[in-house]
Amino acid sequence: MDALVDALAAAKAVFVLTGAGISAESGLPTFRGAGGYWESHRAEELASPAGFERDPALVWRWYNMRIRAYAGAKPNAGHVALAQLESLVPAFTLATQNVDSLHAAAGSKNVLELHGHLREARCTKCGATVSLSSGLPEDRIEHGCGGRFRPQVVWFGEALPADVWQRAAGAAGRADVVLVVGTSANVYPAAGLAMQNERAFLAEINPDQTGLSSRCDAFVREDAAAALPLIVQRLAERQLRR
Ligand code: APR
Repeated sequence: MDALVDALAAAKAVFVLTGAGISAESGLPTFRGAGGYWESHRAEELASPAGFERDPALVWRWYNMRIRAYAGAKPNAGHVALAQLESLVPAFTLATQNVDSLHAAAGSKNVLELHGHLREARCTKCGATVSLSSGLPEDRIEHGCGGRFRPQVVWFGEALPADVWQRAAGAAGRADVVLVVGTSANVYPAAGLAMQNERAFLAEINPDQTGLSSRCDAFVREDAAAALPLIVQRLAERQLRR
């Protein structure tokens, strides 16, 4: 943790990549961990264009369940600490794989949603959008234009939003410190952002090993809500002593 605080104290640009693990302490399941979504659901059935084509009602039942869970979730100390870190470093970019909007709710400003969000649905034919504040009833899946409303998330086999990707890759490539929090780093191209800049100090916060661990300069094997506030507090104290 000290090496990470040292690197952050010297950094001009910081890039953070987060995954489902940072929202675990807000009561939201991860995907691949114990009790994770993919333990009891088939990703190709629920998070792919083909799955949606086959059974849109099944897909919406799943997303409506998640939207209800997100509505009841609050940002935790990990989300809040990242919002504070943003104000302590000259340049900061947070790219998240999460679609739960908890980083923005915690006050983070420069957030890139790599896999979209669940605030709106979009018609597959005309592009019309509807708010998802209380989910989408099954009788509203079909749109009058002949299209269907689908969640604005990136499904397996789909490209990430081009502008979001370019900004994330650019920021990751310029970063002095890359912090990877709560992701198993199994899903690309998001996980690849951690390796955009070979010269950057790469650190991981995750109670478990991941596919990135062997490339890290530092790792903190703790929960995000425990480790991040401590790291930010130490950085703030360090800056006060300057
Ligand atoms: N703090 C930090 N990390 C945690 C915590 C915690 N409290 N709890 C769990 N983790 C870690 C797990 O050890 C695991 O490495 O979070 C990671 C979660 O990994 P996944 O469930 O694979 O989620 P994620 O990496 O975000 O998945 C990537 O896959 O299914 C798709 O689109 C979906 O965005 C998602 C993408």
